[in-house]
Amino acid sequence: MKIVLAYSGGLDTSVALRWLKENHDAEVIAFCANLGQPEDFQAIREKALASGACKVIIEDLREEYLRDYVFPALRAGALYERRYTMAAPLGRPLIARHLVRIAHAEGAEAVAHGSTGKGNDQVRFYAGVVAHDPALRVLAPCAEWELKSRDEELAYAQRFGIPVSATADSPFSMDGSLWGTSTECGVIDDFRARLPRTAYQLTTDPQEAPDTPAHVAIGFERGVPVSLDGQRLAPMELVRRLTDLGGRHGVGRVDMVENSLMGIKNRALYESPAGAILHFAHRELEDLTIDCDTLHCKAELALKYSELVYRGQWWSPLRKALDAFVEASQAHVNGSIALRLYKGGIVVEGRETADALFDYGLTAHDGADRFDHPAGIGFAYVWSLPQRIRAKLRGPASEL
Ligand code: ARG
Ligand code: SIN
Repeated sequence: MKIVLAYSGGLDTSVALRWLKENHDAEVIAFCANLGQPEDFQAIREKALASGACKVIIEDLREEYLRDYVFPALRAGALYERRYTMAAPLGRPLIARHLVRIAHAEGAEAVAHGSTGKGNDQVRFYAGVVAHDPALRVLAPCAEWELKSRDEELAYAQRFGIPVSATADSPFSMDGSLWGTSTECGVIDDFRARLPRTAYQLTTDPQEAPDTPAHVAIGFERGVPVSLDGQRLAPMELVRRLTDLGGRHGVGRVDMVENSLMGIKNRALYESPAGAILHFAHRELEDLTIDCDTLHCKAELALKYSELVYRGQWWSPLRKALDAFVEASQAHVNGSIALRLYKGGIVVEGRETADALFDYGLTAHDGADRFDHPAGIGFAYVWSLPQRIRAKLRGPASEL
């Protein structure tokens, strides 16, 4: 049997690779998707081969990840449980799709991943694969094997000569991409525990961030970020620069307790400086350029969108339908938002757009005011008619 394994180069997927080879008498093709995680891909290639892969495929999917997964979620305003920018949940459907493509090209009957049966990623991989090819088998060695602890995995690795890197010593489970990192397990599992400094990967402690703030202006076209300080940038460069800048100023740290797909409350640490900055700026621009009803409706759908992504339903008809709504809503989300980043905080410093639904004569409170005040009084009268009638017939509202 031939199996395509989603391979990260970590201990779990390296042991999984060997385990699949031994237990399924399989040829294992290791597929490593480059989503911008800070890895040495040459070392990953060598490690996959040393772990027993018959072939290693490494693909740079960074551009596709940002363009087709991250930016649509950004335009939708999708933040899981108000805060999580979802670097991992947005990457899994992309990896799943490519796993299927490679399985077909290589004539494999199964694909595999290194997630446990308890996590969310497992569901996201599974759903993403079967949505493309229901006939493919999806194997989850880490959920099936007899290895009960990290030590047993290390012993297994030693037995088969699988190289173990220094990061295997980390007490945390870390995942990363261009869009951000997640850190879980170890002391993080205890919601009472204060996080040690070693838990953070991308961001400076806000208290130790520079005393001089950073200023950056982000330009958007139809809700897609396209420039920094007036300079047009490709998605990767734009996100990379904001990650550096925001990270230095302690922006984008989230320590949260989330509701997992398995119904478990789970504490995680996320760092997504670019995500925090771009969501902030995008929302700010939307407030100026989108009408009230569409904006309010969009906020409700953003919640739905985030649940759908988090819960592995990327490849669902509902996501496509929501994207159509989002696309229509972004027609006038053009302009630039200037921000100040300072010790973990983001504040707006300037707004520039030719598409603001803004009429100075209506909003002004001084001599420039052109609002028809008597019409406003008429509105208040009509709007409050139900109150008036009820009070007349049943008495004062506060005594009812
Ligand atoms: N709890 C997060 C989520 O469900 C993090 C996933 C991280 N994945 C990983 N393989 N470490 O999105
Ligand atoms: C795992 O359980 O393998 C990763 C963590 C997650 O999916 O939430």
